[in-house]
Amino acid sequence: MTILGIETSCDDTSIAVVKDGEILSSVVSSQIKVHAPYGGVVPNLAARAHLENIGPVLKEAMKKAGNPEIDLIAVTKGPGLIPSLLVGVNFAKALAYNWKKPLLGINHLEGHLYANWLDNRRSNRRQFGGSTSDCFPALCLIVSGGHTQLVLMKDHGQYQLLGETRDDAAGEAFDKVAKLLGLGYPGGPAISAHAEKFSIFNFQFSKISFPRPMIDSKDYDFSFSGLKTAVLYFVKTLDKKQIKELTPAICAEFQKAVVDVLISKTIKAAKDYKAKSIMISGGVAANKKLRKEMKKRVEKELPNTSYQTPAPNLCTDNAVMIAVAACFKKNTQSNGWTKIEANANLRLTT
Ligand code: KG4
Ligand code: ZN
Repeated sequence: MTILGIETSCDDTSIAVVKDGEILSSVVSSQIKVHAPYGGVVPNLAARAHLENIGPVLKEAMKKAGNPEIDLIAVTKGPGLIPSLLVGVNFAKALAYNWKKPLLGINHLEGHLYANWLDNRRSNRRQFGGSTSDCFPALCLIVSGGHTQLVLMKDHGQYQLLGETRDDAAGEAFDKVAKLLGLGYPGGPAISAHAEKFSIFNFQFSKISFPRPMIDSKDYDFSFSGLKTAVLYFVKTLDKKQIKELTPAICAEFQKAVVDVLISKTIKAAKDYKAKSIMISGGVAANKKLRKEMKKRVEKELPNTSYQTPAPNLCTDNAVMIAVAACFKKNTQSNGWTKIEANANLRLTT
């Protein structure tokens, strides 16, 4: 089956063609330049940019894939920014009508989960085979700009939400801390790059210490807004020169605080629910430190549990994951697609 995936939930206009689990094409048109001057995504500007980009992105994705016959169209219907979602959903409806093809609405978070079904080990990163059916129950950490959730995946399409953030998402915290340090948007890659300048040797002498919110709480929830505020109060005690000098140290300690909490809660949940595998995905899962430290901890504390994370470019928003999620939907003969509605607050349900 050849599936066309469409993803416009935030600030990336993405279209991909996936055939029987093989990526034929994946085009992502980033809007970083549009939103960078504002230090964050401006929803109406995002919608306008999606409108401009979506036609050319479709043309490019189809051309790269060799203009194949499409069997099914899959589009992100939520959660996300409503002006952005509406562009993708309505574009997909018009395509489905014009091409006379079925259309499926996909939950963006389900897309992030299913990015784990693409194989990282193959050099071309092109085929299914990342996770298999003996991975269940799988403990999945979704960490993005809008969400931080621990989900127990019992089987395909079977989800139990174990915990989530009570305030800011992990990616949101990266973006806000980057903004207050003047590092631009998006914050995650910038914080990570500055943190890399700070060595382990420096850590021993650094007096900077930020809290690890809720690390010892008995539930699986998270909270990152207090951590962001702790960074803000610390930065307020510094002058411009000191901020510049200490930026690598601040980024390293902030990043370590986020990573410590994410790993600790994930390992705890995996132990409690006897997970056969641990998967991390979403934009923050592209973070090198998180990927490396999680691998170490899983190998040390859960040697019989497999660990899986998509290639970094499949952690951040893309349309391949939307097409892959659609592959695993049982009812691909989507009737009544005219009723698919964009929903900014869509939850992950079984
Ligand atoms: O999944 P995603 O592309 O979009 C949403 O669904 O939100 O995630 C975007 C988030 C942003 O907050 C961005 O700063 C963060 O992922 N991010 C990172 C890294 N790359 C992207 N955070 C930490 N380290 C990174 N390398
Ligand atoms: Zn996302």
